[in-house]
Amino acid sequence: MVGFWHDKRVVVGISGGIAAYKAPALIRRFREQGAEVTVVVTKAALEFVTRLTLQTVSDRPIYDDLFSLSQEQDMGHIRLAQEADLVVVAPATANLLAKMANGLADDLLSTLLLARLGPVLVAPAMNGAMWRHPATCRSVETLKSDGIAFVGPGHGSLACGDVDTGRLVDDTVIIEAGRRILEPNILAGRTVLITAGPTREAVDPVRYMTNRSSGKMGWAIAKAAVRAGAEVTLIHGPVSQPPIAGIQMIAVQSAEQMYHAVQDHWQVSDVAVFAAAVADYRSKYQATEKIKKEKKGNQLSVEMIQNPDILASVAQWRKEAGAGPLLMGFAAETGQALEKAQRKMVRKGCDLMVVNDVAEPGVGFDVDTNRVVVLDQAGRNLSWPLGTKNWIGTQLINVVARVLNGQGMDVMTEAPPDERVK
Ligand code: CTP
Repeated sequence: MVGFWHDKRVVVGISGGIAAYKAPALIRRFREQGAEVTVVVTKAALEFVTRLTLQTVSDRPIYDDLFSLSQEQDMGHIRLAQEADLVVVAPATANLLAKMANGLADDLLSTLLLARLGPVLVAPAMNGAMWRHPATCRSVETLKSDGIAFVGPGHGSLACGDVDTGRLVDDTVIIEAGRRILEPNILAGRTVLITAGPTREAVDPVRYMTNRSSGKMGWAIAKAAVRAGAEVTLIHGPVSQPPIAGIQMIAVQSAEQMYHAVQDHWQVSDVAVFAAAVADYRSKYQATEKIKKEKKGNQLSVEMIQNPDILASVAQWRKEAGAGPLLMGFAAETGQALEKAQRKMVRKGCDLMVVNDVAEPGVGFDVDTNRVVVLDQAGRNLSWPLGTKNWIGTQLINVVARVLNGQGMDVMTEAPPDERVK
């Protein structure tokens, strides 16, 4: 299948720091994912990594000389700067950042960067003191306000022996940051409503019934939606997930509270994703005082009544209104998951159903991974290998965007190897 980087033209610029030895792995990774990589190096970088290595991994000539007639004829630096989909500088030294911030162009890489109008991603790597130096801080600030994107540096052990901030981040992190820059805002101008986490149904003032949902899947979808440019409202039960910047978060406890919050928001949404594990039942009576053993004796029965079905209600309201959001439900099943989920989709009236078989290892509640299949009303389905919830969240948002844009579910994306779980 065609992945995101297929046929993308990437210039990898390498400046002269010890982390330059990691550049060949980055180039290889880009190429494995289908990108065409052109390497531009500084003279200092060639002290750390050989021309032969770079040429071998990129399978193309290496560019380093601004004044080389043959290199200039082969691929002029202006053309190189203009034609690439993305320019990545990894590693970027403090010296290169200072040059870029001041518009200096005294070698091929800095000249290319000055001539570049499109996106540039910089992955700095240096000693921690250099990174924190006011001069470097000024360079970074200037470059950020010039629209240059940064990834890293990371924290860890550095070549100088210190444990500090200054490491070149992993190649997978650089590639993901690049993808985010290039990915169009597929949900710009759209409003997404998401339910997430468990609900908590009180029995008395100190006791409640709940389930094992962690909210991780809903969080991943909310993050992917906000990255895709959507306006996001996340209605969630009690979870211990960190707040997400730039979205509206509404915390609720019970299914009834979640129901009312959704009722307030569904009409203004283009998409509603129901990732919450809503408690199906609640205690019919909520004791106002703590239930005491002295009174109840050996046995306690709690009479339960059914909670409103939030997803089915929105589907019904939409039907009555004749218009409303695209509805994506979730079905966590054990055994014969697809058939059960198909029936559930029809019963609840949603457009897409995300199915997982929670009996499988690494799938379902409170783990970081998931394996899902998405069904649509036309009987089509999309499936992915076991992957991180964050990665699956991005895929689900891609599906939603395609359906909203009338492209349907006919494109399937492969899990990037790093996000796959062997
Ligand atoms: N859902 C909901 N409100 C409820 C119950 C479920 O909105 N009261 C939504 C969930 O968020 C999910 C979908 O409906 O998107 C399916 O949830 P699930 O618990 O699998 O469905 P149930 O109707 O509870 O079916 P089951 O009998 O299998 O538990």
